[in-house]
This record gives sequence, structure tokens and C-alpha cells, in this order.
Amino acid sequence: MNVMITGYGRMGREIENILIQRGHSIALRVDKGGYGDCTEVTADGLKGVDVVIEFSLPQGIENNIRLYAQSKTPVVIGTTGWDDKKDIIKDIILNNKSTLLYGSNFSVGAHIFFDLVSKAAGLINNTPEYDIMMLEYHHNKKKDSPSGTALTTAEKILKNNNRKEKIWTDKLDRAIDDNELHVASVRGGQIPGIHTVTLDSFADSIQITHNARNRSGFALGAVMASEWLQDKKGFFTVEDFIEELLKK
Ligand SMILES: NC(=O)c1ccc[n+]([C@@H]2O[C@H](COP(=O)([O-])OP(=O)(O)OC[C@H]3O[C@@H](n4cnc5c(N)ncnc54)[C@H](O)[C@@H]3O)[C@@H](O)[C@H]2O)c1
Repeated sequence: MNVMITGYGRMGREIENILIQRGHSIALRVDKGGYGDCTEVTADGLKGVDVVIEFSLPQGIENNIRLYAQSKTPVVIGTTGWDDKKDIIKDIILNNKSTLLYGSNFSVGAHIFFDLVSKAAGLINNTPEYDIMMLEYHHNKKKDSPSGTALTTAEKILKNNNRKEKIWTDKLDRAIDDNELHVASVRGGQIPGIHTVTLDSFADSIQITHNARNRSGFALGAVMASEWLQDKKGFFTVEDFIEELLKK
């Protein structure tokens, strides 16, 4: 595939590495901050492009997507923080009979972790001696807590477990209620992201951990999703791709 990379920051560079490893070519790197070959997406720049992979920032995303849609160039969007524009963007894609796939987590490993945790949360429904809880670690620059991945994991636990009804993310000055899922966050060092779900009973303890070593898992998932998109038309999420990949 001949691929345009929009947003040539930390993720854009990782994506370039993976594209080259998988035998694809780079058509153009577009970066508003001047780090790429040019600063704007244009109709001319999209000529001969098989797919666009965009991990930029949410400002300006609508404009870029309009150009991809008008030229019917499929696009994979990893940029986060544009949920408020989702309906408008879906209309742009469908009205132009074009193709878009987006997701807030492209790591295949993280999706395997979500599935394992969902299954584990359901397995203890009839065994109340097992409690369930979560701890996540991230580097000292992270601005939010708990992480988006922790919140997604917690939602999956609430959905599959019949005792847990709400998430508790603060410190506790009392005993935790049975219906509360404790999600604790630790910040420090360089850790790209560790999420551990523990199932604990009097007799034993079971831990499921996802340990992201770097950003390459996100980049690989995005490139694989762009390959999957080649024979598709319409508006997709990363879950559509992952479901087929893991043959759920
Ligand atoms: N979906 C996932 O799995 C996943 C994983 C990691 C990061 N992200 C998201 O990807 C995005 C990028 O992350 P990053 O760490 O590479 O950020 P970054 O700041 O390192 O890079 C973003 C780059 O995009 C450029 N840019 C901004 N607006 C642009 C526009 N309209 N057109 C072209 N270029 C533009 C900036 O100049 C910058 O170089 C963020 O939204 C982040 O939350 C998603």
C-alpha cells in the first residue's frame, strides 16, 4: 500500500517504522507543526494514496476527513478527543460513500486483555468468595488518571460481573462496599502503561496483567487495521477489525 501519514509526531513515526517493516511505501507525511513533508492535507497530495493513517490532534480533524472523503481515500484515525464531532464525521464519510475506521486503542494486546478480563469477571459471578480489583501504573508525565484503558477495562468488569455496580477511583477512608470496583492509579518513572486486574479469595489470587512496553503495539494495530480496510466501504471502529482478527 502507498500510505499517507497525517500527524508525524510520536505515533506517526512509529507508524512509519511499522509500515516499512511490513513492505508498504510512504506517499507523504503531513504535519501541521512542520515535521513532515508538508503542513496541509490537499486533494493533490491524496492522488495515488491507498490509505491515510492519521494520529494528529483533534483540532482540524474535520477538515482533513472532508478531503479524504471527497477523494474516497480510506482513512484510519487514531487521534483521540473528537467524540463531540463523531456524528458530523460519520455523515461526511457516508454521504461521500467513503471509508473510515477509528479507535481510541489500537493495541491488539490491550483488546486481548479486555477479553480475558471480561471472561474472568463473569467467571466469578457464582463464586462470591472471589473479589475483583484493578491497579494501573503510568509514567510521571501522564496528565489523567485513571487511564482511558483502565476505564474501558473497568466498564467491561461492571458489564460482566453481577456484584460490581460502580467504580471507585479515590483513596478510601472506609471499607470498600461489595458493589464497588476499586481502580487505583500510580504515577512515576517512564512506564508506558501497566494494568493489572486481580481476582482474590481466601485461598488464592489470580492476576491478569497487560504491560505495554512502548508505542509500537498501537502503531502495529493501526497498520493492520489499514490493511484490513482495503476491501471495505463505510464507517468502522477498531472493535470491528479486532473482532474479525480474533475471530470472536
Ligand atoms: N488510538 C490509539 O491507540 C492511540 C495511541 C496513542 C496515541 N493516540 C492519540 O494519537 C494522537 C497523537 O499522539 P502522539 O503521541 O503522536 O502526539 P504528538 O503530539 O507526538 O504528535 C501529533 C502530531 O500531529 C501534528 N498535527 C496536529 N494537528 C494536525 C493536523 N490538523 N494535521 C496534520 N498534523 C497535525 C502535530 O504537529 C504533531 O506533530 C493523540 O490524539 C493521542 O491521544 C492514540
